[in-house]
Amino acid sequence: MEQQVTAVAHANVALVKYFGKRDVRLNLPAAPSLSLTLKPLQTTTKLMFSNDKADVVIANGVAADEKFAGRICSFLHLFRQQSGNSQFLTVHTENNFPTAAGLASSAAGFAALTVGAARLFGLSLSESELSAWARRGSGSASRSVCGGIVHWQRGGSADGSDSFARSILPAGEWDLRILVGVTTRAPKEIGSTSAMEHTRTTSPYYRAWIDSATAAVDEAIEAVSKKDFERLGEVTEHSALSMHASLMAAQPPIVFLKGATIDVFHLTRTLRKEGIQAYFTCDAGPQPKILCQGKDANAVEARLRACSGVVDVIHCSLGEGAGLQTPE
Ligand code: DP6
Repeated sequence: MEQQVTAVAHANVALVKYFGKRDVRLNLPAAPSLSLTLKPLQTTTKLMFSNDKADVVIANGVAADEKFAGRICSFLHLFRQQSGNSQFLTVHTENNFPTAAGLASSAAGFAALTVGAARLFGLSLSESELSAWARRGSGSASRSVCGGIVHWQRGGSADGSDSFARSILPAGEWDLRILVGVTTRAPKEIGSTSAMEHTRTTSPYYRAWIDSATAAVDEAIEAVSKKDFERLGEVTEHSALSMHASLMAAQPPIVFLKGATIDVFHLTRTLRKEGIQAYFTCDAGPQPKILCQGKDANAVEARLRACSGVVDVIHCSLGEGAGLQTPE
């Protein structure tokens, strides 16, 4: 039996967002979503069996805080239950991008953890099963298991067995780019899990937001099948703005967008007026992201770097799904 494995997974950005659960414990989404798996944003996770009496989690070189470590331990417990192997683990996890700043670090983290833990505990799982397991750690992690352009279906069953993601277009088949405008490296003020529940329970716009998501995903899937970039971009912006509208209408309101974030939204519109096809999105944090095609990416990147309030730009393209790192 293997004693240690290393798994890698990329972050992802949703073009049609997941923001609402129909089951909180199982992370079952209230609606489907669609995302791009992004290289080079990557989590590398090494898992080792240990003789300790508890799991030990080291994140980016330091002992993980209690909350994060607790979340990982409960997740690993699912693997212990399923495999009948009660051993604890030492987990070293590293991100090559800022953690918890609206860059979907939990998605890459739980996707890597799932692929590694499944192997270590000897569970032979299909990609769909791995995705459904990753979903239990963090909803968006279900999408980071798969590569390229990814559709996470809502599913209807109470146990979540039909709520998993799959790739609808492999990474190499469309040269899409995401330029992340880093506006701050500080951790976000409120996590997406609590923000989702707060919105669901207090925002009068929540229902409308969820009701519009299925049609948006269908439209995005059709746009992908025809490689219709303009249509995909329009759905992307509409989904992001609708999600933030629902958040802002919560009581008390949640406003993730900062001045610099909105400035980038306007920059994107200006670029379109100049004939460059670019569309914005933004998750539960202040980092704006611009969607464009490879042919325009350098021009868009230069303009984004020149935007005041943007401290760095991360240039991403479509990445592969999560996998095991082969030993050297
Ligand atoms: C705004 O997957 O982090 O990035 O399931 O509670 O762990 P949990 O939430 P998480 O939420 C991601 C929210 C989002 C939109 C998206 O990625 O679809």
